[in-house]
Amino acid sequence: MTPIRLFGASFQNPVLLASGTAGFGREVSGVIDLDALGGIVTKAVTPEPRRGARAPRVAEFAGGMLNAVGLANPGLDAVREHELPWLAGEARRARVLVNVAGATLEDYARVIAGLTDLAVITAFEINASCPNTSAGGLEFGATPEGLRELVRRCRAVSTRPIAVKLSPVLPDIAGMARVAAQEGADAVTLVNTIPGMLDGRLGNGAGGVSGPALLAIGVLATRKVRSAVAIPVIGVGGIRTARDAREYLAAGASLVAIGTAALADPRIPERVARDLGRG
Ligand SMILES: Cc1cc2nc3c(=O)[nH]c(=O)nc-3n(C[C@H](O)[C@H](O)[C@H](O)COP(=O)(O)O)c2cc1C
Repeated sequence: MTPIRLFGASFQNPVLLASGTAGFGREVSGVIDLDALGGIVTKAVTPEPRRGARAPRVAEFAGGMLNAVGLANPGLDAVREHELPWLAGEARRARVLVNVAGATLEDYARVIAGLTDLAVITAFEINASCPNTSAGGLEFGATPEGLRELVRRCRAVSTRPIAVKLSPVLPDIAGMARVAAQEGADAVTLVNTIPGMLDGRLGNGAGGVSGPALLAIGVLATRKVRSAVAIPVIGVGGIRTARDAREYLAAGASLVAIGTAALADPRIPERVARDLGRG
């Protein structure tokens, strides 16, 4: 398959593991051959270690999955000292994107500034769907002003490529992608989960819906953004087969990421990459 050029790097195929569903690679290394994939997007990194939300953290239902993991991760220092060096040794052909989260603008800036010199990182992916504690818990990416400030702050601390990951419930997703592009983002990732709740099923109460229900939503978001903005798109949401991946690619995505489907069957990302290669 023809390699894809993005972020000044070459991806051997368009298939990534979606953020939060493969940790930092270690968790899946026994069952997934990372080097058969285009790359891996890490779990969100925050400045301090986070234990995350109360169990149960995931619940399945007919339309997909509901999760509230609560950004559980070992924190910036441990990711820098242990997780990313391990991944650098393991993923020789697969590219590494680091997902970044926080409760304040400063959190995002600290994580990016603290990792920006690591050669293993091909790009940062900013999770814009985190609640901003300085704005009463409103998500950073919920308003053009909030998103503008976030991308500007991240852009200021690194010259490395940045992808901005947006929520599918924004009323004007193309307009928000334009804001990200204006502030120097190199790509957008479409889409994050949709807020949802099933009474009593998650320790946290509410969570995010992922899986099959997101496919048509993510494909439309990709199409809308690609028609309005020249910025590359990483398509994610509901992909289980090469046919699903092709929906995103036909809508204009450069790369795709697989999350929930790989949790159910870890062989799916490799199979999708192989089937895409068969044309
Ligand atoms: C268990 C779980 C954890 C996730 N953690 C993150 C995360 O840390 N950062 C992020 O940007 N997205 C996170 N996501 C969202 C996924 O990266 C992806 O956008 C979403 O699940 C849709 O893709 P899918 O339908 O293939 O799962 C998570 C999703 C799941 C299911």
